Amino acid sequence: MTRHAIYPGSFDPVTNGHLDIVRRCRPLFDRVTVAVAVNPSKHPMFSVSERLQMLSETFAEFDHVEVASFSGLLVNFARDRQAQAIVRGLRAVSDFEYELQMALMNRRLAGTIETIFLMPSEEYTYLSSSIIKGVALAGGDVSSLVPPGVETLLKKKAHR
Ligand code: COA
Repeated sequence: MTRHAIYPGSFDPVTNGHLDIVRRCRPLFDRVTVAVAVNPSKHPMFSVSERLQMLSETFAEFDHVEVASFSGLLVNFARDRQAQAIVRGLRAVSDFEYELQMALMNRRLAGTIETIFLMPSEEYTYLSSSIIKGVALAGGDVSSLVPPGVETLLKKKAHR
């Protein structure tokens, strides 16, 4: 059986914290799908196709890491892809309550799909996509916090 995990998120944009989670989960699974959630109630800076493009470039050198987008329920996407696990990063205690709620709801919806939590490297525990967008739009240097292609795109948005 192929061990396949879905790593879902908004990825608006992908950061080095997300990259760190993929690096950590990659050896645990045969395949990892990084999945952009299409959420009509959010107002992202980057379109779904821009986010997919950023993710494809970020993970181009990673074996058996795919990128995709989905709408609707995450567990349906995971089932369609025959994935056994959902991977989520836990940055701090403050993530826990929301993540526990989601994990338990997903278990109720699809009892055979396990949620697995991974802790990012401590240097990324304070990162979020919003904080990076805020710093980049105000002209701050985010080069050590995001993949190089993402930094370029953030600079373009900042100069618009
Ligand atoms: N490094 C850096 N930042 C990280 C991170 C990491 N390792 N892990 C999480 N974050 C940040 C994200 O950048 C994001 O920041 P932002 O709020 O500033 O944009 C924030 O933490 C939230 O993370 P994200 O993974 O994007 O979560 P989300 O709440 O936007 O989406 C889904 C979570 C997609 C898994 C969830 O909404 C979902 O499953 N949606 C589909 C519908 C569904 O099935 N609903 C029922 C679920 S119970």
